[in-house]
Amino acid sequence: MNTMNYTNIRIELENNNAIIFMSRVSKLNALNTATLTELHHAMVTLNENKNVIGIIITGDGEKAFVAGADITEIAQLSINEAKDAALFGQNVFFAIENATKPVIASVNGFALGGGCELAMACHIRIAAENAQFGQPEVNLGIIPGYGATQRLPKLVGPAKALELMLSAEIINAQKALEIGLVSYVTTPEDLLSFSKSILNKITSKSAFTTERVIKAMNGLYDKQVNGFDHEASLFAECTTSDDFKEGTTAFLEKRKPNFTNK
Ligand code: COA
Repeated sequence: MNTMNYTNIRIELENNNAIIFMSRVSKLNALNTATLTELHHAMVTLNENKNVIGIIITGDGEKAFVAGADITEIAQLSINEAKDAALFGQNVFFAIENATKPVIASVNGFALGGGCELAMACHIRIAAENAQFGQPEVNLGIIPGYGATQRLPKLVGPAKALELMLSAEIINAQKALEIGLVSYVTTPEDLLSFSKSILNKITSKSAFTTERVIKAMNGLYDKQVNGFDHEASLFAECTTSDDFKEGTTAFLEKRKPNFTNK
């Protein structure tokens, strides 16, 4: 693997899955520029690595997934720097959202501001009971800048999204489950093993088709793309794969498919 000397994150590889630990524990894993740069490098590298078929992102330490963008850095920004900083963070999160393999956020504590936005850029969110979510940027005199205004309404609906961003309310894991921000809530102890079980269920399917489901869904965010047409093209593309022949043949022969991810 093309490694960089990471100091704010760390990666564990396990059975073709990679776990990215956000690991700036003394600052509750807040996203400063160095952390975002490392996360971007890790995502690009893991996405290109053929031996990695699924990715989990979680936080190191007892308290936080990610407590937001680094407020020390934000406090210094000029108008031009602020725009660049938001675009930079958004770009890092696009690398997650557009990954061609499934990415699960295992949220193990505070997921505030940029932390909640990071979780939303992942394909699936699983929360520990002690997780807390929110977009408290208005308390700092700013608005979300890493995608919350676009992704949160898609997940929880515009009214709830707007309320969360306007009120800065922090919600617990159970509430996040109720509004559709996360898909599951587990005990903190079970968070990673449960996340791995969901990941393994997905990666047991054809990677060829998994990639195309993700691409078709991401058409939701691209206003230049006709989502239905995009879906139809990707659907058609699947017929060129070995896994399409294997999947349909296996069904007709009443046996389990043996996918080769091509
Ligand atoms: N940016 C920079 N530093 C942060 C941070 C952030 N988003 N969130 C936490 N930290 C730092 C604190 O400044 C503190 O550093 P210090 O020990 O050098 O003083 C350390 O992390 C621990 O945080 P602390 O506030 O002492 O922990 P807590 O348990 O009392 O409170 C939070 C936890 C998450 C409620 C609180 O840290 C907080 O409100 N953070 C900011 C959340 C936010 O507004 N995020 C959106 C940013 S756009």
